Amino acid sequence: MTPILTISQASCDEDVVAAADLIDSRDDNHHPLDRAALAKARLLLLARLDGRLVGCGAIKAGDGEVAELGYLVVASQYRRLGIGARLTQARIDWARAQGIKLLWATVRAENQASRENLLKAGWQFYGDYLSIRGTGNTIGWYVLPLQQGLDIQALMAGPIGSRTPVSQGRGAHG
Ligand SMILES: CC(C)(COP(=O)(O)OP(=O)(O)OC[C@H]1O[C@@H](n2cnc3c(N)ncnc32)[C@H](O)[C@@H]1OP(=O)(O)O)[C@@H](O)C(=O)NCCC(=O)NCCS
Repeated sequence: MTPILTISQASCDEDVVAAADLIDSRDDNHHPLDRAALAKARLLLLARLDGRLVGCGAIKAGDGEVAELGYLVVASQYRRLGIGARLTQARIDWARAQGIKLLWATVRAENQASRENLLKAGWQFYGDYLSIRGTGNTIGWYVLPLQQGLDIQALMAGPIGSRTPVSQGRGAHG
């Protein structure tokens, strides 16, 4: 039988803990998860395949018309099946329904899978900036306007803050 994929909002503490455990099981070199911040996410979606948790994705804590996507992880043995794309589209649909005007997300320069996931969902590259953590890492910033005629630069001024733009080496950022 074809496995059934369901995407649903976290509805109890156990869901948040399960998502946090999945995020912490990431096989790449990510920053330690702030579980309290995850618990405050505006939206936390869980993807289950025949009931087994295989992915999650969130819209991070905050309020207002500009929101950040984050915490997207698909368990390594379930990748390239379209689950990440489904989680991203579901978050976009939810944001639009909430009246959010602009979504943004950051992706490390070397994370091709995540970058492609956003570009395929219609996102635009906004710019490369140095990591605010002082690591020297380049972080790619991406935006998805959900309304026409937005002043994206003005809306992004807050999130970007005083970060230093990286002008060269855009290369594969598309
Ligand atoms: C990023 C991630 C969530 C993608 O999940 P996924 O379920 O494998 O993604 P999908 O199957 O929906 O892929 C959608 C598209 O993204 C692109 N993509 C996904 N993985 C890719 C990879 N390894 N290399 C290149 N492109 C990739 C492809 O365009 C793909 O479409 P296609 O399979 O039709 O070619 C997954 O790789 C992951 O969990 N990575 C580790 C955690 C992480 O980096 N999270 C993001 C932090 S910013």
